[in-house]
Amino acid sequence: MNLSENDGAPIVLLGFMGSGKSSVARKLAPRLNLPRIDLDARLEEEAGRSIAAIFAQDGEAAFREMETAHLQRALQERGVIATGGGIVTRSENRALLKSASTRGALIVYLRVAPRILAARIRRQPGVRPLIDGERVLNFSETQTRVEEILQVRAPLYESCANLILEGDEMSASQIARVLAERWQQKTP
Ligand code: S3P
Repeated sequence: MNLSENDGAPIVLLGFMGSGKSSVARKLAPRLNLPRIDLDARLEEEAGRSIAAIFAQDGEAAFREMETAHLQRALQERGVIATGGGIVTRSENRALLKSASTRGALIVYLRVAPRILAARIRRQPGVRPLIDGERVLNFSETQTRVEEILQVRAPLYESCANLILEGDEMSASQIARVLAERWQQKTP
């Protein structure tokens, strides 16, 4: 068997809410014949509750604990991992991502402009507690909130990623195509 450098290592998609992580994972995983791992979906399935309900009932800190456990587990698997937008906020998670990177994981930051993120977030009202936790915001309030949170997170995404893609003008299929090519170049 011909073992390559990244054999067994995952592809990890990082980015803000609405950056397209889940959509890209849906296109990319079948292209590479890899399992798709959606951390938010796994977490909701295990908890038997929506993320909005977990935030409302147990608070964000409890959600972050569960999220770290799921990240740790998923990074041991082979697959395309769609993370939640706040995965980079904990230093423990950043250390896990950096260690996966040294083991050959492709860690991608999907960078998208705040006005595009806000428009996508507004298409799913009430789903994201960090945006619509108290009430459903309008478009301009959403954009302001996105900019505030992104100011803190952008350097964290950048520091964890080993590839940054500018996603403003790209569809999920186009991003998946670029990533599949990158991955195949790494895999002889
Ligand atoms: C969060 C992003 C969400 C979800 C939770 C918290 C965040 O995932 O994990 O609402 O802190 O940015 P998506 O990025 O898939 O929306």
